Parts: sequence; structure tokens; C-alpha cells
Amino acid sequence: MLILGLESSCDETAAALVTGDRRILAHKLAGQEAAHAPYGGVVPEIAARAHVEALEPLVAAALDEAGVTLAEVDAIAATAGPGLIGGVMVGLVTGKALAHAAGKPLVAVNHLEGHALSPRLADPSLDFPYLLLLISGGHCQLLLVEGVARYRRLATTIDDAAGEAFDKTAKILGLGFPGGPAVERAAAQGRPIVPLPRPLLGSPEPHFSFAGLKSAVLRTHNAGTWTKEDIAASFQQAAVECLVDRTRRQLGAIDATALVVAGGVAANTAVRSALEGLAGEYGLPFSVPPQWLCTDNAAMIAWAGAERFAAGLTDPLDVAARPRWPLDPDAEKVRGAGVKA
Ligand code: KG4
Ligand code: ZN
Repeated sequence: MLILGLESSCDETAAALVTGDRRILAHKLAGQEAAHAPYGGVVPEIAARAHVEALEPLVAAALDEAGVTLAEVDAIAATAGPGLIGGVMVGLVTGKALAHAAGKPLVAVNHLEGHALSPRLADPSLDFPYLLLLISGGHCQLLLVEGVARYRRLATTIDDAAGEAFDKTAKILGLGFPGGPAVERAAAQGRPIVPLPRPLLGSPEPHFSFAGLKSAVLRTHNAGTWTKEDIAASFQQAAVECLVDRTRRQLGAIDATALVVAGGVAANTAVRSALEGLAGEYGLPFSVPPQWLCTDNAAMIAWAGAERFAAGLTDPLDVAARPRWPLDPDAEKVRGAGVKA
């Protein structure tokens, strides 16, 4: 089975070819960092235009690198949400056009399902069910992944996502954009000596919160007492402790067979090693994709497409792009994540 995957939900345009037996024949990616850097964040209109320009050449380059034609592809998988709607539409419409022209089935992939299943692309031994910490720029959730298209959300953030906290910290400290890697680099030069809060640490409720931590970063920065490296190191340590604490609470509450981390923030070395340590405490197998597969890419979309296609899940060509699309539609609504308190 050979799947072409397309990704365009935020600020990475990507195309990849992945087989059902986990071979990544090609993965192409065009970032937009330079275009957004002057604004200190992703500008949706600029992103959508950049996707339009980048996507077709990336598809051609991916097919070329893999040495295959569209006729040899079994299905086309495109991110259909959630994300910046202009960008999502570019990828989904391109996927529909290719599917229609080549007479291939379309698989509309939830970007979060791309992240959620990406560890199985990297790790053939990872079976369902697993406890997933999904940490990206827009989301911070603990999910029980029971199978393809079967997700139970156990916890989410009541305010900011984990990656958002890294990005805002970078902005406050003037470390540049994108924020996560910049904070990690600065943290490596600093000492975690700045007193910062750990929101909801030890709380009986399952959720995450990062807004108070971000505000404390702003206050300490304005106080002028500490270097930005020390603040970055202290922020990163606090964020990691919060992620570990909330995940530990869940490990005590459910019967997980493995601990898995995915999403852009899972590229962070301190986050990876802390969660690996936590899995070790519970004697659980631990899985995290390689760093390039944690941040947005099309290989994870192609792989989620492969898993869905193998399960008989394809979509009509009039399937809609969705700016919001929870993995677990039955999950209770909490503050944050688009719900106004
Ligand atoms: O999954 P992703 O690429 O896009 C979304 O779906 O949101 O995640 C992007 C997020 C950004 O907030 C970025 O700052 C963060 O992941 N990130 C990191 C690192 N690399 C990316 N955060 C901390 N440390 C990193 N090394
Ligand atoms: Zn993502």
C-alpha cells in the first residue's frame, strides 16, 4: 500500500509518500519561518498564500524522489483540520483535485490523528491501547488511544497549549520565532533558579494549565533580576514538571500498556527524557517519534491515511475542511481550547 500525504494546517507545507509497511519513500517540507518572523507569530493569510505556492512543487518533488507516479499511489491523504482554515483548504482542495484526477480514494485526516498515530510509524512494536501525551502549538491533551479513529480524551488544557507557552515565553524574552526551539537553546545556557509557579501541580482534576506560568515569566522578565537564559531554563523545568505531574496522575488512574509522547513539543529533549523517566518508574514501554516526526510533517498524515485506508475509512470528495475538530467528540468541554470561561 502506498499513500501520498499532504499537510498545510499551520506554517509548514509538506508532502510525503509512505507505505503500509512503514517505509518513508519521500518526505518534503517547506517551512515559512522567514515569512512570519517579522510578526512574531503565524499570520494566517500569509500562511495560506505560501501553501498555495509551495504545495504542488513539493508533491512533484516527493513523487520524483520516491520514483513513483500518481497512478501507483493507492490513496491520497490530506489534513482536513483542525488548523488555520485557509491553509487547511489549500491542502484539502489539492488532495481532492489529485484524487479526482487520478481516480484515487481520498482520506481526510485529522491533523491530531496524524500526531497521535505518528509513534506507530516510527515504532512497529507499538500496539493499541496506549496513553498519549499530545503536546503541540495548539493542543495539550492526554488521550487513551484505543485504535484508529478511537480516542478517549482524559485531560486537556484549561487555557494555553504547551507549545503556546513555549512560544509566548520566547516572545517575552525576545528569543525569536519559532519559540520552542529558541527557548530550549536558551535554557541550555541558563540555570533553573528563578522561582516560577507550576499551575495545577498535584491537583485532583486531570487538566493542564500554562497561563499562570506564562504571566509569571512576564513578571520576572520585567523585574530585570534574572537573565533570559535563567528564565528560559526555569520556565522549561516548570513546564516539564507540569507535563510529568499530569501524566503521572493519569498513569495512576488508568491501565496503560505504554506511554507515548507526540506533537511539536515532544521534540524537546528535556520533555522527552523526563517522560521516558516517568515510563521507567511505572515499568512501561516508552515511545516517542524522532524529532522531525514530532513537529508538523506530511509523513505522519500519510501514515494516518494508511492506517485509516487499511481500516476501510475513506471520504467523499465533498468532505469539508474543519477549523476545529476534536479527536474525541464526546469529551466534556472545559475552559480554554476555544471555550470561553
Ligand atoms: O505539532 P507542531 O509542529 O504544530 C502544531 O500542530 O501546533 O507543534 C508546534 C509547537 C510550537 O509551539 C513549537 O514552539 C513547539 O511545538 N516546539 C517546541 C520545540 N520544537 C517545537 N517546543 C519546545 N521545544 C522544542 N524543541
Ligand atoms: Zn501539529
